[in-house]
Amino acid sequence: MPEREAFVLGATGQIGRAAVQALAEDGWRVRAASRRGGRDPGWPEEVRSMAVDREEEGALTAAVGEGCDVLLDCCALQLRHGQQLSALADRIGSAVVVSSGGVYEDERGRSFATQGEPDGFPRYPVPVPETQRTVAPGDDDYGSRKAALERDLLAEGERLPVTLLRCAAVHGPHSRTPRELYFVRRWLDGRRVRLLAYRGESRFHPVHVANIAELARLAARQPGSRVLNAADPQAPTVAQMAQAVDDVLGWECETVLLEGAPPAAEPMLGRTPWSLPHPLVLDMSAAERELGYRAVTGYEESLPRTLHQLADTVRGRDWREVLPDMAEAYDPLGDYFGYAAEDRWLAERNGRSEHGS
Ligand SMILES: NC(=O)c1ccc[n+]([C@@H]2O[C@H](COP(=O)([O-])OP(=O)(O)OC[C@H]3O[C@@H](n4cnc5c(N)ncnc54)[C@H](OP(=O)(O)O)[C@@H]3O)[C@@H](O)[C@H]2O)c1
Repeated sequence: MPEREAFVLGATGQIGRAAVQALAEDGWRVRAASRRGGRDPGWPEEVRSMAVDREEEGALTAAVGEGCDVLLDCCALQLRHGQQLSALADRIGSAVVVSSGGVYEDERGRSFATQGEPDGFPRYPVPVPETQRTVAPGDDDYGSRKAALERDLLAEGERLPVTLLRCAAVHGPHSRTPRELYFVRRWLDGRRVRLLAYRGESRFHPVHVANIAELARLAARQPGSRVLNAADPQAPTVAQMAQAVDDVLGWECETVLLEGAPPAAEPMLGRTPWSLPHPLVLDMSAAERELGYRAVTGYEESLPRTLHQLADTVRGRDWREVLPDMAEAYDPLGDYFGYAAEDRWLAERNGRSEHGS
């Protein structure tokens, strides 16, 4: 491949770091743009990093300058971000845009946005193909905003070929919202018991950043207008994830299974960041067929680096201070580390079983 240029927006995020690396290794000249600039120490030095705030009028256009062969957008969250790319169609050969499985809705119109309602959690087919219906585009919530930008970009057709990558639950090093904190914080706290709602059988399909990067690399080589799921080869249950984490940490932790949802009086009991009442498992056959995608890693094999990097980040520190995005995303849901409530519940349960009820 003659040297071609890729422009990565959101390059210092968890996905961007891996994607810049994958594109550079594949022979692309890479411009790595993020709000504050900066670079990953692992990138080749030829990677050019730059500071660009896409919310500043004209900043992205100026940064793209005369153009690039592909633009990978890792931080497009709403319609106007898609419109920024459409406006650059004459200067971008093609685009790859990170989207989300959060756009899917089930046959009864239930999606992640309705999960707070009674019986509001979607029942998707297993696995979910890209042809599954999606929420109405709008500006009401994360899913409807992603749907709006997806639809807008797909309407560009040949004027701007765009691959939309609908990511599952992203994992890997340098996450600002690392779900694995649920296990790592407990390990660091010496907490030897954990509760898992829904019998630990929830499945919220993970995807490692290196697999997203691989999809982006393949899509960059094969421009087209398409939507593809982005997920790991396996979709383990929460109980399997917990065991895999213990194995990496060399740790033994008792797992107590709750039959169903967390109790109404203690809504955080057993609720991990993957604890869905019904599975979200993405079908990867279209990516395999259309791009020749083969995953480059899996959940278990990728865990050691993720866990050790996360442990180094939070050890001896207040996780809310070092991971403010995590606190913002998860604190409103309740306390994931409410050990006192767990101990009360376990003591009551033990009392109940001692009294034979
Ligand atoms: N986490 C999940 O489970 C999940 C699931 C499905 C889809 N997704 C999608 O994944 C994407 C997030 O990727 P990520 O996890 O790699 O993100 P991340 O780790 O939070 O990093 C965000 C990146 O975007 C940059 N950025 C943010 N605002 C910007 C702006 N105004 N102008 C220029 N750059 C900006 C950041 O730069 P600074 O560091 O300088 O701020 C950083 O490089 C989103 O599109 C999200 O919808 C995530």
